[in-house]
Amino acid sequence: MKIVSTVKELQHALPLEQTIGFVPTMGYLHEGHMSLVENARCENDFVVMSIFVNPTQFGPNEDLDRYPRDFERDEKLAREAGVDLLFYPTTETMYPLDMARVTVRHGADVLCGASRPGHFDGVLTIVSKLFNLVRPTRAYFGLKDAQQVALIEGYVRDYFVPVEIRRCPIVREETGLAKSSRNVYLTDEEKEEASQIYKALTVAKASLEAGDDPKKVKQQLTDRLDEIPNSQIDYVEVVDYPTLGVVSNDSTELLLAVAVQFERARLIDNVIWKKG
Ligand code: PAJ
Repeated sequence: MKIVSTVKELQHALPLEQTIGFVPTMGYLHEGHMSLVENARCENDFVVMSIFVNPTQFGPNEDLDRYPRDFERDEKLAREAGVDLLFYPTTETMYPLDMARVTVRHGADVLCGASRPGHFDGVLTIVSKLFNLVRPTRAYFGLKDAQQVALIEGYVRDYFVPVEIRRCPIVREETGLAKSSRNVYLTDEEKEEASQIYKALTVAKASLEAGDDPKKVKQQLTDRLDEIPNSQIDYVEVVDYPTLGVVSNDSTELLLAVAVQFERARLIDNVIWKKG
């Protein structure tokens, strides 16, 4: 595995005539990230991973400075997973002038976008830069961040970006807790409590399957999450997927998405229910 940090080095190291699978990350890798690499390896000749904690997607009071980082460990995991090229740029490399950014027009005012203004502009800005640098055949994103996937798909369509976006399923702990770099902020007790989130989502999905009204399901889901000790609900939403708009009779996929704040970590999780 080759490691590069400048644009020039990256461009020299990219293959010219092979298919490229790309896995963008912010590092502190876990099995969720690794599953994306596995998919990328199956479907492409060459796998590129980026590790960059992108400052523009963090709000002023968020955890940019204390976001977990461990490059040595990440490097080892990436190598073992079969990444061919690891791109590890500096902020100066990714934002030389910071003169232009991508703006989301629809779908950033709900779910995580409502609690984190500007977050998705930052995500699309960095993803756009990375796509232009890596020029991947396919790029791999986890449904853990279902809103992120939907907005990236929208961006790719609107900007005619020549890349295929691949959605990958959420990887979970045995308890059901979705794997996340931020889980290191949880105590053992909180981890146990946080595993209730997925259980509540599973019950809610079963209620939709049984024909319950989405509004009622949302209320029941809220009540269940309210019972989790040492935590506070940030949002509970049921929206159309991938438009992220209001659920209608024409909706074929519903996204049940939640964010729950623990003392040191805000956790997100979701399930998608497909009609029929
Ligand atoms: P990061 O949080 O590091 O996640 C990188 C990728 O891993 C994302 O596509 C995310 O959805 C996926 N992922 C994280 N946890 C997962 C899990 N438990 N199961 C499956 N996939 C999982 O998302 C970002 O970084 C950034 O916003 C980024 C796209 C890199 C732009 O900065």
